[in-house]
Amino acid sequence: MSDEIIDRSRPGEIEKRAVKAITEADTVDALEEERIRYLGRKGEITELLRSVGRMPVEERPALGNIINNVKRRIEELLETRLEQLASEVQEEVPFPGDPTLPGRSGWQGGPHILHKVLRDVKRIFFGMGYSLAEGPDVELDYYNFEALNFPPDHPSRDLQDTFYINRDILLRTQTSPVQVRYMEKHEPPLRIISPGRVYRNESPDPSHASEFYQMEGLYVDTDVSLGDLRNDVTFFIRSFFGMDAKVRFRPHFFPFPEPSAEVDMSCFGCKGSGCQICGKAGWIEIMGAGMVHPHVFRYAGYDPDAYTGFAFGMGIERIAMLKYGIDDIRRFLANDLRFLRQFWTESWAGVVE
Ligand code: PHE
Repeated sequence: MSDEIIDRSRPGEIEKRAVKAITEADTVDALEEERIRYLGRKGEITELLRSVGRMPVEERPALGNIINNVKRRIEELLETRLEQLASEVQEEVPFPGDPTLPGRSGWQGGPHILHKVLRDVKRIFFGMGYSLAEGPDVELDYYNFEALNFPPDHPSRDLQDTFYINRDILLRTQTSPVQVRYMEKHEPPLRIISPGRVYRNESPDPSHASEFYQMEGLYVDTDVSLGDLRNDVTFFIRSFFGMDAKVRFRPHFFPFPEPSAEVDMSCFGCKGSGCQICGKAGWIEIMGAGMVHPHVFRYAGYDPDAYTGFAFGMGIERIAMLKYGIDDIRRFLANDLRFLRQFWTESWAGVVE
């Protein structure tokens, strides 16, 4: 059979082809294909070596020698080419940067701006001797309205659009219910602040949200005066916004303080001369306040002839917006990192990217 006879030129011919193919192989995969083609289990050299056994005995050693030499040369060539290709691949990888730079730490979050503002506000009031009191978000109509002198079916309830759960239970529309809850359990003198979330059935716009934070203040003792209210409110505003702030009380109506007022501060944008922040008014409304109404004392079980007190309440988002120039109340809950990370300046928040 013809395939039993090895043409003596065959090993040389294979070698020539192999050298060319291996030299031209330009990827590690292509090189591997060539290795299989010549040296694999069914490779040309392997087959050739196998057929040596079918040659006349006297020819076998010489032929075997020739083929083995070719095999060795192909092996060496494969190895050299593989090294070449490997070093070319390494050269192509761009150097990953300056190894002398310190490592980059991942960024961490920081306190939410509302958290920070609330903390700053609390610190100011704690420094004035106020302590913390809290109440439930899901509140009885009784505490949210009735005990605060909003009679049932009275139009004053329309001042706040309310989420009712049923006739008697609602999401609190203000932090003022904590006043009554606290007075029921404590005797004067008392001085509390009560921050918390409140809910109103508002159509959202840049200055209205259906949930936001308020902070209530309440001070009750035997002879608390409007002057004391003015003093504490002014001290707070100056501590928070700056010592040159001017404060004025403007008559207003709330059902549960009497007299009641809205508190304005001089605009820090224009110092009172009129600008965009204050709508050219020179003044910015900052909170509601007043002297605790005798009815509220009665609901709480206090003798209105023995005690007087003041209360105030402010929106936390509102003062945060004013202090930090934030244009839309909806940003606080939108969780947009581009907004939030501007306020991650605290050292404990770690390295911010
Ligand atoms: N609770 C009132 C509001 O939400 C604010 C306020 C609090 C007014 C305390 C007076 C005294 O509008």
